[in-house]
Amino acid sequence: MIIAVDGPAAAGKGTIARALAAHFGYHFLDTGSLYRMVGLAVLRAGHDPHDRGSAIAAAAGLDPSNFTDGDLRNEAVGAAASIVAVIPEVRAALLDFQRGFARRLPGAVLDGRDIGTVVCPDADVKLFVTASADVRARRRQKELDADDFETVLQEIRERDLRDSQRAAAPLTAAADAVILDTSEMDVEEATAAAIAAVTAKRVF
Ligand code: CDP
Repeated sequence: MIIAVDGPAAAGKGTIARALAAHFGYHFLDTGSLYRMVGLAVLRAGHDPHDRGSAIAAAAGLDPSNFTDGDLRNEAVGAAASIVAVIPEVRAALLDFQRGFARRLPGAVLDGRDIGTVVCPDADVKLFVTASADVRARRRQKELDADDFETVLQEIRERDLRDSQRAAAPLTAAADAVILDTSEMDVEEATAAAIAAVTAKRVF
């Protein structure tokens, strides 16, 4: 059983995907962390995330089973992640791990940008979680405890643009995805809606 949860930054994918995994007893993978690890490795090496060679080497040398670093959630790392994520060789280097994870029994929930379209096009259930840019920026501002709303909104818009306009695996809803707009929902409502969508689609 594979559940794909895709959507733009700060739409609530991670919260929803984790809740689904806990509810159905499945494994959970935050695939954004893989791209964040690559971005962080490049930054720590003192390189520019636009440096293709450095990003490809970081992706090839990644240990995807070990991604706990306090700096992973920084917005600078999120921005670096979306820059390295444009590079097809970086994406290719992370593909096998993601597909292997998706096959774990009794099931797996993966959240990201291209799970339903590229990583697991045959996923049993696909959710596309979205919300308005304003609502997402408010959520991200709270999460990061950031002062300036306009700066956070600007960063979200830049990331949306880069993620949806790249040639390799752009952010887009799969044709068979259930769209979940969480703009007007709190965490409980969004989680309940996601569980209902999965239950309705689940093959028993
Ligand atoms: O948590 P947030 O939604 O801000 O970002 P994330 O899911 O941690 O992803 C960080 C960046 O990694 C995104 O902006 C994408 O550019 C990239 N990413 C991707 O290209 N494909 C994925 N499956 C997951 C993330």
